[in-house]
Amino acid sequence: MQIKNILVIGSGAMGSQIGMVAALAGFSTTVQDIAAESLAAARDQLAERMDNSVAKGRLGRADADAALARLRFTTSLEEGAAESDLVIEAATERLDVKRAIFAALDVAAPVHAILATNSSTLGSSKVAGATSRPGKVCNMHFFNPALVMKCVEVVRHPGTSQDTVDTVMELARQLGKAPVLINQEIPGFVANRLMGAIRDEALRLYADGFASFEDIDTAAKTALGHPMGPFELMDLVGLDVSYLIRQATHAETGDPADLPHPALAALYEHGHYGRKTGKGWYEYGRSATVAK
Ligand code: 3HC
Repeated sequence: MQIKNILVIGSGAMGSQIGMVAALAGFSTTVQDIAAESLAAARDQLAERMDNSVAKGRLGRADADAALARLRFTTSLEEGAAESDLVIEAATERLDVKRAIFAALDVAAPVHAILATNSSTLGSSKVAGATSRPGKVCNMHFFNPALVMKCVEVVRHPGTSQDTVDTVMELARQLGKAPVLINQEIPGFVANRLMGAIRDEALRLYADGFASFEDIDTAAKTALGHPMGPFELMDLVGLDVSYLIRQATHAETGDPADLPHPALAALYEHGHYGRKTGKGWYEYGRSATVAK
């Protein structure tokens, strides 16, 4: 199946950058969000990012302008879905919200359209049942910042068709990504399980007083070659996201060891979500309210 038109639902950090990735790869792309102000902010931030890429010589002005022209913004899901071949839902991580979106997409999108979710915690089987096309539903999980990170986890649920898997894997390659296929909906998929293991150990070392979080970050970078330490990464991803991922994992497994670490929970409860709120483990100036 050939994909031409892509709809991204949600214009937060993930949705907006996924939309930009698709437009840069030549796809006619629409980003939909119910909040017009979020769409406006996304449009401005993406234009600024393209300007920076042009200024750095990474992208030609004409290519940047052509990509921005391929990117539309709308508050209407129906309008965005009408001619879509593939939808990537990157809305809030709430099952009721996602099920409502998938039910609406099932009505509004052409019958051939694939409906993917960027969810990192909800396997697509949980939303597939809200549609009449479960075989065309899967996870397509991007990483933050989506414009930069190469990995896309394609996760099939038991009813996802092979055709859907093949199309989404190929599309991810066309987007310039390196897709990995995950054959079962396991909590955290693969990358977040790896990241979680490091984060949990870092939180233990810090909470037990063995080292400061700054020094733990330094060790991760200078001894292991990680681009960011685990605390910097939590701030980038959002402490709210890390917290809610743990809650969702705990809800699925029932294992108390999967609950958010108390140090993480304390920051979450004070509304310190990382870069997006200006404070997490670290403090950020006004220019860092949107991650970097
Ligand atoms: N959005 C878009 N682009 C960004 C960015 C952002 N938030 N932050 C940096 N960049 C771009 C820069 O513009 C620059 O682009 P260029 O190469 O074209 O000039 C490039 O990334 C490198 O940026 P910098 O030189 O400023 O800084 P770094 O070299 O430190 O790179 C980083 C920044 C790419 C964020 C790097 O630190 C990194 O890879 N960090 C780890 C990120 C990570 O692990 N992400 C996964 C999170 S887990 C997740 O998302 C899963 C979810 O389910 C929770």
